[in-house]
Amino acid sequence: MKAPTAATNDQPLQNLEEWEDFLKTRYPAPATAAAKPFRATDPEKKQEQFRNYEADARPSVREFYRLNHHHQTYEFGQAKRKEFLPLNRRQMGIWEAMEYLNTLVDDSDPDTDLSQLEHLLQTAEQIRKDGHPRWFILTGLIHDLGKILCLWDEPQWAVVGDTFPVGCAYSDTIVFHRYFAENPDSQNPRYQSRLGVYEEGAGLDSVNLSWGHDEYLYHVVKDHLPEEGLYMIRYHSFYPGHREGAYDYLMNDKDRKMFDWVRAFNPYDLYTKSHEKPDVAKLRPFYDELIREYFPEKLRW
Ligand SMILES: [Fe+2]
Repeated sequence: MKAPTAATNDQPLQNLEEWEDFLKTRYPAPATAAAKPFRATDPEKKQEQFRNYEADARPSVREFYRLNHHHQTYEFGQAKRKEFLPLNRRQMGIWEAMEYLNTLVDDSDPDTDLSQLEHLLQTAEQIRKDGHPRWFILTGLIHDLGKILCLWDEPQWAVVGDTFPVGCAYSDTIVFHRYFAENPDSQNPRYQSRLGVYEEGAGLDSVNLSWGHDEYLYHVVKDHLPEEGLYMIRYHSFYPGHREGAYDYLMNDKDRKMFDWVRAFNPYDLYTKSHEKPDVAKLRPFYDELIREYFPEKLRW
């Protein structure tokens, strides 16, 4: 099974990495990227800088964000949760899911020609090289498996993209903020107050972020990994939260503590892609054992 191989009106990105490349432009790697976590916020950052990223973005990326901001409503997220979270589509083990994601063949990135599975191994291997715990390595290995949503004909804007809370005001730290004008929730005063449908400090577990691969995978694996790893999976695309320091008022103390781990993971997500092809056959035994340590033979997807 193959995903569409060319950009279309509804699928503007040539490949999902176009979005990730844009993130790298917006959040360039500091020299110490792999060595230490980032600060949540850059107090020097000006609105103007956002506008520069926006102006420099490829038209396909701009269109992708426009669709994302237009269609990711509170109700859309609710409907997708109902559709996918019963997890009754397939039963697969972790490696099987990696091979399944690998059938997502899109136009390859000019910078790298690695498969999805090789990207996952690269991320995990870098975490392993840096001496992190086994659950952290495993989290790196699986963190993007939620992208299999693309194989079930979900549009790109409902699978990837920086996530943000829906049902409350949009932070002005969200890139391409102006496209929210097209979102029907913008016309709903209940969804546009600071707290919207949420309570101050209630915790992110009670907040609906825009729907995508993070939230989906969290529900698939939530009984099997330490909480730190689950936070990394569930919030790795929540750039307004972990990179911009927005929405602190929706978080509780546990979220704030756990976001140190989300930030520790972010450099591996953004900066580990290289031309160096991992040797899948050689690495497989290590990862088979690691997967067996945490996961049952089959999971519901
Ligand atoms: Fe991701």
